[in-house]
Amino acid sequence: MLALPPGTVHLWYVFPEEVSDPYLLAAYHMLMSPEEAAQQARFRFPEGRHEYLVTRALVRAVLSIYAPVAPSAWSFVRNRYGRPEIAGPGGVPPLRFNLSNTRGLIACLVTLEREVGVDVEDTTRKGETVGVADRFFSPTEAAALRALPAHRQRDRFFDYWTLKEAYIKARGMGLAIPLDHFTFHLDEPTGIRIAFEPALHDDPLAWQFCLWSPTERHRMAAALQRSRGESPIAVEMRKIVPLEDRF
Ligand SMILES: CC(C)(COP(=O)(O)OP(=O)(O)OC[C@H]1O[C@@H](n2cnc3c(N)ncnc32)[C@H](O)[C@@H]1OP(=O)(O)O)[C@@H](O)C(=O)NCCC(=O)NCCS
Repeated sequence: MLALPPGTVHLWYVFPEEVSDPYLLAAYHMLMSPEEAAQQARFRFPEGRHEYLVTRALVRAVLSIYAPVAPSAWSFVRNRYGRPEIAGPGGVPPLRFNLSNTRGLIACLVTLEREVGVDVEDTTRKGETVGVADRFFSPTEAAALRALPAHRQRDRFFDYWTLKEAYIKARGMGLAIPLDHFTFHLDEPTGIRIAFEPALHDDPLAWQFCLWSPTERHRMAAALQRSRGESPIAVEMRKIVPLEDRF
């Protein structure tokens, strides 16, 4: 079993296209609850069904690395905004997690002691960038994006997008938090800074943000809640094939 030392979070990720062994996929199917299996069957396209299956296996296999619980034995409950949390079994460390998936990449961030959010995006997916920023980001972010040369806007858009999603997910409220009520400043010497509208009642010093490009085509961001004066939180990243790799 793996320990999660104080001041550390673990970020697990899987490339779903690398998981094709039929025996492994059959084992993933066995892990799902009846509700999860029904949800999986509702996806129209095989890619969607595969990603959902690997996501369920990822969270269950990863949690079992930290507690003497079989991957199939975890049960989950969602908060009123849809965030899943562990509902059982009891008597295990109070693990928390957050999940994100996009075409080609699935991530699961695990913690014991704080609110966390993770977001991954495929930056090659079709769609607008500055138009979306104008509609949904804060005016300062949209203006900063527009001020960049056109060839840098797409990459920067996904920096903002993943960070903003990671924050609203760490708050557990998803899009119930308006995306224009907070602003990321990305070009400051001290690193990534957030500023909040008063209506959000949040403190910029209570958060640490991280941004990565795990592959050429993917962007990944994490939002980690921290106490005032706490040293920087260490993020340990681990690639995994659920149930195959042992830790
Ligand atoms: C649901 C939401 C929290 C994240 O959605 P997303 O970025 O599309 O999807 P992700 O893969 O990053 O995250 C989905 C996972 O987050 C978790 N999640 C769901 N609701 C959550 C919440 N309120 N808080 C934290 N995590 C949540 C779940 O584990 C979910 O996966 P699951 O249902 O398979 O368990 C929310 O921010 C959302 O709906 N975003 C959509 C963004 C979008 O499409 N915007 C377009 C308009 S510009």
